[in-house]
Amino acid sequence: MCGIVGYIGKAPVVSTVLDSLSRLEYRGYDSAGIAVFNGRGIQVRKRAGKLKELASSLKRQPLEGRLGVGHTRWATHGEPSELNAHPHRDCTGELALVHNGIIENYAELKSELLGRGHRFRSQTDTEVIVHLIEEHAKQLPLPEAFRRALKELRGSYAVCLIAASDPSRLYGARCGSPLIVGLGRGETLLASDVPAVLSRTRRVLYLNDQEIAEISVEGARVTTLEGKPVVRKPVVVDWDVASAQKDGHAHFMLKEIHEQPAAIEQTLTGRLGHAQITFDRRTSAFLKELSRTERLIILGCGTAYHAGLVGEYMLEEVARLPVDVDLASEFRYRGAMLDRDTTVVAITQSGETADTLAGVKLAKEHGAKVLAICNVMGSSIARQADAVLYTHAGPEIAVASTKAYTSQLTALCLLTLALGKLRGAIPAAQWRRHLAGLQAVPGLVRNALRAEPAIKQAARRYASARNFYYLGRRYNYPSALEGALKLKEICPLIHAEGYAAGEMKHGPISLIRPGWPVVFLATGSPVYEKIVSNIEEVRARKGACIVIASEGDRAIRRHADAVISVPKTEEFFSPIVNAVPLQLFAYHVARANKCDIDQPPNLAKSVTVE
Ligand code: F6R
Repeated sequence: MCGIVGYIGKAPVVSTVLDSLSRLEYRGYDSAGIAVFNGRGIQVRKRAGKLKELASSLKRQPLEGRLGVGHTRWATHGEPSELNAHPHRDCTGELALVHNGIIENYAELKSELLGRGHRFRSQTDTEVIVHLIEEHAKQLPLPEAFRRALKELRGSYAVCLIAASDPSRLYGARCGSPLIVGLGRGETLLASDVPAVLSRTRRVLYLNDQEIAEISVEGARVTTLEGKPVVRKPVVVDWDVASAQKDGHAHFMLKEIHEQPAAIEQTLTGRLGHAQITFDRRTSAFLKELSRTERLIILGCGTAYHAGLVGEYMLEEVARLPVDVDLASEFRYRGAMLDRDTTVVAITQSGETADTLAGVKLAKEHGAKVLAICNVMGSSIARQADAVLYTHAGPEIAVASTKAYTSQLTALCLLTLALGKLRGAIPAAQWRRHLAGLQAVPGLVRNALRAEPAIKQAARRYASARNFYYLGRRYNYPSALEGALKLKEICPLIHAEGYAAGEMKHGPISLIRPGWPVVFLATGSPVYEKIVSNIEEVRARKGACIVIASEGDRAIRRHADAVISVPKTEEFFSPIVNAVPLQLFAYHVARANKCDIDQPPNLAKSVTVE
């Protein structure tokens, strides 16, 4: 959500910042802008719409310099427009600032600043920050004015500031929104996410909340908001630029769907052996304690929440551990009962989702222990958690989560089996069968991908429908929710809902009309017969049944308008394998409808505001 890039170094700032911003496009945005120090003063260029609008304006009328800051904005306060796009300037034009997050007390700060004669140009909350710094800078040196202004803000922010009076530096700070420093050779960057700096460096310094970074060509000096120096070692990120590129695929989403066998293998590597599951020392110690817990709460948002719902089925049935699953946005406000005996598992790809982070903080305040299942090393949630099970799925760029989801499910399999063993809940034969089953999952996913031509054909057949239902039971009830989410997310022309198939009769079936497409998850399970009955109920109303079934299930053809076959597996692993046709179906429906698949309107990759 919004992208920040700040740059100081020898390279031309405009092309460098634009290139880095383009690697943050996946976060979602509606306008873009850049501020450049040209040796005399600061020049700003902004455009509504995509980065290419800004780039073509800069091509027609170039800006030059070696210090600058750029931004892609996702509107929260004020419509998406050139005027509201960042960077914002103070009254003198000496300062330029970009911001991610929301300033909750902006209205009162604005009226105070207006009273002191400041002139505002935009409707944004952001503009108050730069005027506030200007106000303090009348009495104080710039670093102190910056610090003082930040202390007056309520809400969340990641900011980056440049000043014409101090062109050897830029300033960054974070509180609730991510910000990292990229440490290159003779150049330094500030950015909201790692892919933005990967083409220049893999040495990264993560800022914590309430920290300020003063950036120069030599590197970064980090201090707390109180001015205390912070010593932190940079992390060398193991992602490379190639893994953040499309590699010949039409979309990042398609590339990431096809990367799933490798991503799942990465989640399993070093953990899954032939006879045992092992984790690093810290996680093992944490799991030993966790195995004695009597209650687990899983938190997540969107797709990560759906992974949590699958985890509930796994952990309760196989590890015999009681689990509650909560949407993080509800958990944080519902007065949940938490204590030292509670363990919270936070599932998150980015590790930066505002609601999940707030849930984690709340759990910790009440003495609960937190395990994160997370993809991004060093992210806010990873740092807050007591232990982290990294999914190692590599960078996920498309807004719609695919490989992060299946690797979260894989991590939950590992967690369930490890806890089941520690709790003595898994009989030896089942343990051996499940370990072998898990070893086979990457191969099954690889085989599931081979059905893409048939899935594409089915997708094209139903692409003109405007309403879809997705139905499943047990482990594949969350799969139905996830399938529907994928479709409505990337194809905003379509309304799709997922339900537990048994709920159909309690309301949703009333909408079924001739031709209404219903995607059923009917792979092997103890409730297979019941799903077949649900298919018949839809057929009786002339709905169109698209059925995801196990290879070799010939009988299902009698009941279906279209069958998508997936490799046979135990129900325990089926949400991972079944995710593939659901993702590909959504992808090809969206493609047939000419949708903006990687950056759907109104959506952002990393939801760092509430
Ligand atoms: C859906 C999607 C979102 C995210 C949700 C949580 O495809 O990507 O629903 O799953 O915003 O994000 P993370 O996992 O980064 O916490």
